[in-house]
Amino acid sequence: MTERYPASSNLYERAQRVIPSGIWGHNKFPAAFAPGRYPFFADRGRGCRFVDVDGNEFIDYLCGYGAMISGYAHPEIDAAAASRASLGDCLTQPTALSVELAELLVETVAGMSWCAFGKNGSDALATALLVARSSTGRDGVVCIDGAYHGSHSWCNWCNPGEGRPAEGSAEVRLVPWNDPGALEALLATEGDRIAAAVLTPFHHPILGRSILPAPGYWAAVERLCRTAGVLLVVDDVRAGFRLDLRGSHSYFGFRPDLVCLSKALGNTYPIAVTLGVEPHRRAAEAIFASGTFWNCSAPMAASIANLRLLASGDAVARIWSVGERLCRGLERIGREHGFEVEMSGVPSMPTMTIAGDESFVVMNRFAEAMAAEGSLVNPTHNWFLSTAHTEEDVDETLSHADAAFAALATIAEPAVR
Ligand SMILES: Cc1ncc(COP(=O)(O)O)c(C=O)c1O
Repeated sequence: MTERYPASSNLYERAQRVIPSGIWGHNKFPAAFAPGRYPFFADRGRGCRFVDVDGNEFIDYLCGYGAMISGYAHPEIDAAAASRASLGDCLTQPTALSVELAELLVETVAGMSWCAFGKNGSDALATALLVARSSTGRDGVVCIDGAYHGSHSWCNWCNPGEGRPAEGSAEVRLVPWNDPGALEALLATEGDRIAAAVLTPFHHPILGRSILPAPGYWAAVERLCRTAGVLLVVDDVRAGFRLDLRGSHSYFGFRPDLVCLSKALGNTYPIAVTLGVEPHRRAAEAIFASGTFWNCSAPMAASIANLRLLASGDAVARIWSVGERLCRGLERIGREHGFEVEMSGVPSMPTMTIAGDESFVVMNRFAEAMAAEGSLVNPTHNWFLSTAHTEEDVDETLSHADAAFAALATIAEPAVR
């Protein structure tokens, strides 16, 4: 398959000399993207597609790991960002756009009355933890076993690799998802040490199936946190704007204290935000958190344009509808080829697994075959859809899946067929 990606492979070779592992960040470990079988370097994107450095075109179901929701190179969003950048992106003071965007976010995200900016999802989480600790005078944090909240050292449990201080996650306690009893037991013994419970709106773990909240789960979590004086923090970095523009807590019907958003907010422009309810405003005023680029104005202009665009149509419903078509289509085509495809999570960011494929061997082969056909999917991580994906794009991908499953049928272990 390397002949499909010669320029990618050459760049990868060069990159390995000057960039540790050749690729930094989300695609770093070749476990997900085996050398020679994927486009390693992109050239340009438009809508839901991108072209790699070899000129191959792909329908993209990773959307910059969620950063793209309205389409790559969206003319209105890019024009807003470019026009602002032409006046100076990173100035010494914040611009009026920071106030305009904060007002828009507070109006949009249910229950929130203030917001603080950052660049990456990890910034938003770090700020939330500072606020929670400032507000409660406690240090502990409860998270869900298997959840991913970024690669900072407080998240040791969800990151591979060396160089992590053993005490990095010392203040973190893990409980299983969808188990209010475990949270209740933990808070009964350690509640007076816990500042925050940090949860994603549904469980989209690092590997494998996503799991929606069981009926009553969020109500129980909210009640337990309130009783223990623990701040309920929603990490909506990945799911944000793909369930409900008012925040995923609106979709599931609960009231968090703090909400962290990033990824889709700026439609590929780097921006993050921590939003909070009124009672924790003073705590936010009492902390110091900063980053040189946190007040950059071009991503704020992009975010305003993006939010207005998303709000002006039935964006979330449209993304769900094409996602549904993709999920049901993959299940059907999988069945036709003898594979039990499981699409979990929500249609706007589904996770694909195959029954019996515990080690993801088949999913890896499937994703490689999909790349060869012209659709980019990830074998172990959830996918993302956007308003730029049309029914025609999805149907094209389903024809890629048909070919990919056919190729797979010759190599799959009998256990999964
Ligand atoms: C749920 C969740 N939280 C936090 C983060 C960290 O965001 P970032 O990589 O932008 O720092 C991510 C990133 O993928 C995420 O998926």
